[in-house]
Amino acid sequence: MAETTSAARSVALAEARGRLAAGLVRDGDREAVLARYDRWGADLWDGLAAVYDAAQVLPRVVDVILSVHAARPPRLRLRDTERTLRPDWFQDATTIGYVAYADLFGGTLDGIRSRIDYLTGLGITYLHLMPLLTPRPGANDGGYAVMDYRSVRSDLGTMDDLAALADGLHDAGISLTLDLVLNHVAREHQWAARARAGEPRYHDYFYVFPDREVPDAYEATLPEVFPAFAPGNFTFDADLDGWVWTTFNEWQWDLNWANPDVFLEFADTIGFLGNQGADCIRLDAIAFVWKRMGTNCQNQPEVHAITQALRACARIMAPAVIFKAEAIVGRQDVVGYLGQGEHAGKVSDLAYHNSLMVQIWSALAARDGRLLATALSAFAPVPVTTAWATYLRCHDDIGWAIDDSDAAMVGWDGYGHRSFLADFYAGDFPGSFARGMHFQANPETGDRRTSGSAASLAGLQAATERHDAAALALAEDRLACAYAMVFGFGGLPLLYMGDELAMVNDPDYLADPAKSADNRWVHRPVMDWTVADAGETAAGSAGRIFARVRRLISARRGLPALHASVTTEALVASNPAVLVFRRRHAAGSIVQAYNLSEHPQTFDAAALWPLVSGALVERITGTPVAWTPEVVLPPYAAWWLTSPD
Ligand code: GLC
Repeated sequence: MAETTSAARSVALAEARGRLAAGLVRDGDREAVLARYDRWGADLWDGLAAVYDAAQVLPRVVDVILSVHAARPPRLRLRDTERTLRPDWFQDATTIGYVAYADLFGGTLDGIRSRIDYLTGLGITYLHLMPLLTPRPGANDGGYAVMDYRSVRSDLGTMDDLAALADGLHDAGISLTLDLVLNHVAREHQWAARARAGEPRYHDYFYVFPDREVPDAYEATLPEVFPAFAPGNFTFDADLDGWVWTTFNEWQWDLNWANPDVFLEFADTIGFLGNQGADCIRLDAIAFVWKRMGTNCQNQPEVHAITQALRACARIMAPAVIFKAEAIVGRQDVVGYLGQGEHAGKVSDLAYHNSLMVQIWSALAARDGRLLATALSAFAPVPVTTAWATYLRCHDDIGWAIDDSDAAMVGWDGYGHRSFLADFYAGDFPGSFARGMHFQANPETGDRRTSGSAASLAGLQAATERHDAAALALAEDRLACAYAMVFGFGGLPLLYMGDELAMVNDPDYLADPAKSADNRWVHRPVMDWTVADAGETAAGSAGRIFARVRRLISARRGLPALHASVTTEALVASNPAVLVFRRRHAAGSIVQAYNLSEHPQTFDAAALWPLVSGALVERITGTPVAWTPEVVLPPYAAWWLTSPD
């Protein structure tokens, strides 16, 4: 890292501006690009200067900006203008997300295009298509081991098909999110192949050690992500005759982000994906990109400086593009991904709210909202220009990230509660409604994570197996209640494919050797289009849950107060089984009450402040609610209350 004075910084920024001005074609967009550089160039410099020799790297970044911008299609330049005029589009209550594996949802990219009507019918305006770039052959972590960032997986289609799909989505009012795996590449990626062939330039893209000395020193403080099927964080490679850093699987090689060439490659890749029509780049496993001896090598400050530089670069070359951080880390660390201190407003626009997801499942198992309210209240504020991506399930396992100090605040033991949740959601705890599976049980730490679909974890599978109609009705209420929290929280809600149809666990993955060792595949079923096409008219739980999800979506779209710019306050009412979300917003306050149990619960109406006595409206069903000093909530009721319009 070079120390620069502010005078040197100004000179370097001015020189880079000159380089940019000289390289830009004299067309209608030229002044706009320069204005964006004037707005965000300093953020770019500051991010670079915290990690690299910025004076060396900045001119090279300008060259990336020039080439990406030159290739940016006119329709996307228009989108740049539109999104610059409406930068809060992803915070708006009308933005509703859907997350799917490209192949499992539509077969091919053209197949997805033919399903756009399904998404619009549901009210979806944001689609995250999981890995669709060319992965390594064989086991590839669901596509998260990318071999080529510039081509589409051949069975899905081509880059042209991707651009056509993006156009089709945009025409239908849907924004597209694509994954950018930036912590690692597949062992078969050409950078890794060229490193193995002995090219020094590419050797320096990776962390390679001649013997175990340094790896062992790192291992002393490194956790294991996949202890069961990929123990350790380093893999011996015979071609390199050394140990290569492999945080995830042995065929996922961690990149050396201390090397500015790696930064430049990814700045260019972001531009490339943006130019195909991606509106949002999901920064996969972003927490891991910077390594520091003596730490767990996650959430290092350099991660945020690098993100800031990439973000500024995107804002200059393709400002329609936003970032979503996939940092599945504790509450002390996760807020940094939305920007704290010097990085506030300068890093990712969206970040997964892993704690909310974990706490919803925890509250449902315990029938108690106190831990959720305590944990969420302890969150530091995030910039008002950002949003949490809220979700109930995703393609990954659930790690029971219960903070020991949060648990202690409500008089619980953190370890004991984590064990309870793992047992409960695997269906091992007496009386459990869930049917999940243990994932990556680690005998050394006692840590056990959970796989399973939302419907199976919420009790629909067990009730169906037992032919217990009453239990099934309760399980449906439980699932709808959980999703109401996700949609009511006020971030960008993400619906995981199949959850709208209450799809349960699918054991088919066991027959595929590339998947059978990884039980996360149990909650990655193939979309059942016969059921999906039937929608609300589908038989049984599928149709009923579909109708309820649709109702949630349309209620949310009509509530501007769910705009992500204000914080949700979580508290328990006078009864620990009743969770309250309070959102005070200029567009009108909303107070939500959730019954976390299968029994009716009462609570003191004072918890509904700032709503005051008089008529109230429950907005999911559109029904009036009479104010009574003591409110009775039916089992698993989810009420979004406002004053009448
Ligand atoms: C992210 C993905 C996960 C993958 C990991 C490694 O966490 O969501 O599926 O295993 O990154 O790329």
